[in-house]
Amino acid sequence: MNAKQAAGYRAAELVKDGMTVGLGTGSTAYYAIERIGEMVEKGLRIRAIATSNASEELAVKYQIPLVKAAEVGHLDIAIDGADEVDPQMALIKGGGGALLREKLVAINSSRFVVIADSSKMVPHLGKFKLPIEVVPFCYEWTLRQLEARYPVPFEQRMREGGKYVTDNGNYIVDAAFGKIDNPAKLNEELKAITGIVDHGLFVNIASTVIVGYEDGRTEVKE
Ligand code: A5P
Repeated sequence: MNAKQAAGYRAAELVKDGMTVGLGTGSTAYYAIERIGEMVEKGLRIRAIATSNASEELAVKYQIPLVKAAEVGHLDIAIDGADEVDPQMALIKGGGGALLREKLVAINSSRFVVIADSSKMVPHLGKFKLPIEVVPFCYEWTLRQLEARYPVPFEQRMREGGKYVTDNGNYIVDAAFGKIDNPAKLNEELKAITGIVDHGLFVNIASTVIVGYEDGRTEVKE
């Protein structure tokens, strides 16, 4: 068992009969979805919402029943990975580009469980480039606003053949802040810029962090 698998499987144990569950995105969330799928096969009755098209496909593969937001008022639990986790459980997410749906699902869950291998635990956020989701319309103006405000490198995310486009039809700009001294302040500032849909800083959203280690151990922080 590797570290990501250990964290994902440990988080799946928190899913109980009758719950509505948010399914995260990425290589760590993959293991949680896989284990929840095995539990469903053995009779666990849950309903789930996926945070990306990729995770939705995975849920369908594992026959995890999916619902729409209109059918459920609130989620009992959401389980998702992270790119960085600081000691206050603030996160950078969005390396996989699913940050907007991930944040929507996380803030609408009674419990948001972050699963991460130990390499994701950092003293300060920011070494990992912060993903910022922007609307394509007049995107250059939004980028210019960001550049005028913060003296750090910004890079539009690309994928083979062109610009990276999120599941919501937007672009991603990755910002190399280096070290983010005040995640809560930056969170508010970025949200106030017109053209930005959302960004990968998750401040005061995580309820639990499950850290996985290469020897298969896990540590639960709350
Ligand atoms: C997806 O958009 C991300 O927020 C992922 O949750 C994050 O990048 C962690 O991914 P891994 O578990 O693959 O490292």
